[in-house]
Amino acid sequence: MPQTPMTIAVDGPSGSGKSSVSRAVARELGLGYLDTGAMYRALAWWCLEQQVDPADAPSVARAATQLPLTISTDPDAEHVRVGEVDVTRAVREDRVTAEVSAVATNLDVRAELRRRQRAIIDELRASTGGVVAEGRDITTVVAPDADLRVLLTASEEARLARRATERHGAADEVTLAATRDLVLRRDRQDSTVSAFLEASDGVITLDTSTLTFEEVVAALLALARGEVRPDAHAGTPHTP
Ligand code: DC
Repeated sequence: MPQTPMTIAVDGPSGSGKSSVSRAVARELGLGYLDTGAMYRALAWWCLEQQVDPADAPSVARAATQLPLTISTDPDAEHVRVGEVDVTRAVREDRVTAEVSAVATNLDVRAELRRRQRAIIDELRASTGGVVAEGRDITTVVAPDADLRVLLTASEEARLARRATERHGAADEVTLAATRDLVLRRDRQDSTVSAFLEASDGVITLDTSTLTFEEVVAALLALARGEVRPDAHAGTPHTP
């Protein structure tokens, strides 16, 4: 465990690999892990469950303040609960994925979920060695003072192939086409409220298009341990 609590903020578009990478980095460093996307997904699931129209902004905002959410921050135990219902798998279903951007672009929802995210991060900093928090606005809004801030990017082609393989076990033409809308439309919509397509000042960009999962994890760990310094101008990590 690090001597002082450490916060690592990771943002990136859909298919950049940020969830699995962040989880592995948290595990390796003995930190907590916060998947903020799962929080937006849990709210979208709850709205569908209660037949709240995702386009009805005031009702969705009210649902956000009332959401009885429990989310695991143990990188080895993924679970999300709404009230007594375990929604860990349900929040990954296509019907939730298709609606989540409508919920996540509601500014009152964002204010409420950011408040909860900051409280979880503070709690983890106080009770463990710190946290790896990932999403779309962690490096810029939720934890702009994080010890390490990284934007994971990947080419459109690489992101589509990863998501198609995750959803269908293959990345042939048919599965790529089926995945395209869920990935690209969502990123377009989500990027209207968060800056995750280009790194903001002081945020290190790591392009994962041609890297293996292990290479991305190793790059992040090296940054977290101060073994490499980011290249000031390109924002890409380099060994000194
Ligand atoms: O990372 P993900 O696909 O599980 O995210 C689900 C949705 O939530 C996605 O459409 C973007 C949104 N999101 C967000 O707006 N801000 C975050 N910090 C995390 C996710």
